[in-house]
Amino acid sequence: MAAMIEVDGLCKRFGAIQAVDDVSFTVARGEVLGFLGPNGAGKSTAMRIITGFLEPDSGTVRLEGVDIRDRPIAARQNLGYMPEGAPSYHEMTPLGFLGFIAGIRGFSGSEAEDRIATAAQQTQLGSVLYQSIDTLSRGFKRRVGLAQALLHDPEILVLDEPTDGLDPNQKHEVRTLIQEMAANKAIIISTHILEEVDAVCSRAIIIAHGRIVADGTPDELKSRSGRHMGVALTATRETCRQLVADLNALNGVAEVELEPRGLFVKPVPGSDILDLVRVLVRQRGLSVADIRLEMGRLEDVFREVTIPGGTAHGGTGDRP
Ligand SMILES: Nc1ncnc2c1ncn2[C@@H]1O[C@H](COP(=O)(O)OP(=O)(O)O)[C@@H](O)[C@H]1O
Ligand SMILES: [Mg+2]
Repeated sequence: MAAMIEVDGLCKRFGAIQAVDDVSFTVARGEVLGFLGPNGAGKSTAMRIITGFLEPDSGTVRLEGVDIRDRPIAARQNLGYMPEGAPSYHEMTPLGFLGFIAGIRGFSGSEAEDRIATAAQQTQLGSVLYQSIDTLSRGFKRRVGLAQALLHDPEILVLDEPTDGLDPNQKHEVRTLIQEMAANKAIIISTHILEEVDAVCSRAIIIAHGRIVADGTPDELKSRSGRHMGVALTATRETCRQLVADLNALNGVAEVELEPRGLFVKPVPGSDILDLVRVLVRQRGLSVADIRLEMGRLEDVFREVTIPGGTAHGGTGDRP
């Protein structure tokens, strides 16, 4: 199926800063793409370009085949966008603000009322609909921004840090809402919370200094961690000392590292060493509290690809 969002060769410079540097990707229906990256990486700038709020220096964006610069109104009709910080009109109430947005979107009468009711219900705004927005907590302000983006039930959603400022329960609610909507939409969310990527994204792009430095499913990204398929042993220093040479001699073992609570056995890429390690420990009759396989953590990969010269746990430094 054709991609719903097609981004090709986006570049944007602010003075000396190359905020977005040759960014290309596509998003299909049913996908939730996570934009991951440190502060200042260029996530919000890319989102502002994708949604037509900022002109790129070069590159193209097509939403359902429609070029955002050639036909901005048509392209935005099926797009919901929550900008960074979820700006809205603070002197309005959520009800007034959503009514205003409904009017802009071309809804009136009972259709407008139904849409406002649905968006308010999805984002759980019911208790604050008549209170002025400037008196709301950050979490509620964020949900007003989300309701505004969902009001016309768009098929494309671009949400800039949708869970920023929410408490853990509210974060969970918003993630659940995104998951529920995902099947029929193409969604991009930005975040610097790695667990969010695992929780809601089918794919993630890691951005650093405006460039895409990694692109894959959360599992694919984790597999690039220096910890991936490694075996961690919890044991006393003395036991570790007795095991190191034999572990090093095992087929498929690349390296054995001493860690605060034991050892970390790093495999040669592609090797599955867990059973070999287990057998060795049993044969030697040593007391090892725990032997476990590690799948790698997004956090390690994130650090490896976003910090210049940075390696996570002495990772392989395997960069794109
Ligand atoms: N309007 C602007 N004028 C000048 N510099 C900007 C502007 N918007 C963003 N930048 C700069 O571009 C870079 C990327 O910013 P941004 O896209 O907001 O990053 P992120 O959302 O990943 O934190 C930063 O260095 C930021 O200071
Ligand atoms: Mg941002």
